[in-house]
Amino acid sequence: MHHTICYVSTATREFSGSEINELLALWKEKNEEQDIKGILLYSEGHFFQVLEGERSAVLALFSEINNDKRHSGIIQVLGKDIERGSLDGYRTEHLSSPNFSRPDLIRNYCESVEGMDSHTQGQIKTVLNSFLDTRVL
Ligand SMILES: Cc1cc2nc3c(=O)[nH]c(=O)nc-3n(C[C@H](O)[C@H](O)[C@H](O)COP(=O)(O)O)c2cc1C
Repeated sequence: MHHTICYVSTATREFSGSEINELLALWKEKNEEQDIKGILLYSEGHFFQVLEGERSAVLALFSEINNDKRHSGIIQVLGKDIERGSLDGYRTEHLSSPNFSRPDLIRNYCESVEGMDSHTQGQIKTVLNSFLDTRVL
């Protein structure tokens, strides 16, 4: 059985650009080893993450993430079993304000959840939209 989780959270301290890029690359590599797919965005002190993969692997990882002191205020907006995996890979991005264009981003990330059932897709898109809305003024 596959499982998917989506949440937003707030970093507990400031990360420099190179620090966050290193972390994102490390986590991407670890997830690829475990066949965990998803999206992780970091923007101005906030995280948006979607995880998808084998149920026990996703739940074990999320339990570690939940206890990770590098962020707090975790709001889990989705956590459910799904029939099969639908995401292509694990995408991470550090959205630094000068180089991101909102319509393109939304299109991009919405495309990556297109294989999910429409209800789940809708939930993720809503959170993604509000995450990006509050980041880009
Ligand atoms: C916002 C956030 C997202 C994270 N995402 C992942 C992730 O996708 N994959 C991962 O392996 N670790 C992720 N981590 C790190 C884990 O919480 C944890 O530190 C790590 O899995 C521990 O691995 P280790 O025991 O090998 O050091 C994340 C941490 C934070 C704060």
